[in-house]
Amino acid sequence: MNALKFFIGYIKHFLSAISIHNIHSPFVFQILTGMQLSDEDSDRIANIEKLRKGLLRDNSEIIFFEMGAGSKISSADQKESGKPGIKRMMRDIIKSSVKPELGVILYKLCRYFKPEVVVELGTSAGISTAFLAMADPGGKIFTIENNPSSADAAEKNFRELGISNIEQIRGTFDNELPSLLGKLRKIDFIFIDGNHRKDPLLKYFELCLEKSHPSTVFIFDDIRWSDDMLSGWESVRNHERVSVTLDLFQAGIAFLVTGIAKQHYRLRGI
Ligand SMILES: C[S@@+](CC[C@H](N)C(=O)[O-])C[C@H]1O[C@@H](n2cnc3c(N)ncnc32)[C@H](O)[C@@H]1O
Repeated sequence: MNALKFFIGYIKHFLSAISIHNIHSPFVFQILTGMQLSDEDSDRIANIEKLRKGLLRDNSEIIFFEMGAGSKISSADQKESGKPGIKRMMRDIIKSSVKPELGVILYKLCRYFKPEVVVELGTSAGISTAFLAMADPGGKIFTIENNPSSADAAEKNFRELGISNIEQIRGTFDNELPSLLGKLRKIDFIFIDGNHRKDPLLKYFELCLEKSHPSTVFIFDDIRWSDDMLSGWESVRNHERVSVTLDLFQAGIAFLVTGIAKQHYRLRGI
């Protein structure tokens, strides 16, 4: 998506977006007003942000294999195609992590829904995984990442934050997601943040739907990464099993709750 189109989309979104107080859906209103943070939550979030701050100053180099459409640098599937990895500094890897605002949204949603089983596609250095895991110490987070050095960095970061409810899976989404799903009875919460293209997005979505239930929550990051991704998000919105969607411009949230009419909200933030 070119910069001008993105900017126009941004203006349009915020002109038509509504605030929490204009939401008429009791389902959505209850969620958004129920997501309060305690002082303990704020301390945990501050710890993740402190770690991020340090990593943003980390000039150490790692070998990075560009996967899918994960970065504007290259869209080639280097690792799968046997192309060599490129050297990237940790501070640049960290820049592709969820922004603090989306991290807090992930945290709040996990705190509210208390999912037992969370699946994340795209660990990178583990910033978003940390938000998911620290919000919900009783839940188990399965996170998939194909870049060995990113996965190593994530492992180190989880240790530093004292997190123990994460199972890291190393490999591609295409290989690892079906075998993970084969082992899981259900999924309660899914965060898709890698391989930002429509067809893979819809493939992972359909696969996860097989283990989903009416209370499962889906979050898709970077829905406006490209026209192709936006089209993928629109297909999710229109899917017959999706009843409620929240468009936060950067990310989209889809609920499968049954017994209510299809609803779509553009929000300024939550
Ligand atoms: C945007 S980053 C994830 C950021 C992370 N969720 C965070 O907020 O901290 C996307 C990650 O997905 C990984 N990735 C992309 N396509 C993949 C694929 N097909 N299989 C496995 N990993 C993939 C990339 O290596 C990259 O580390």
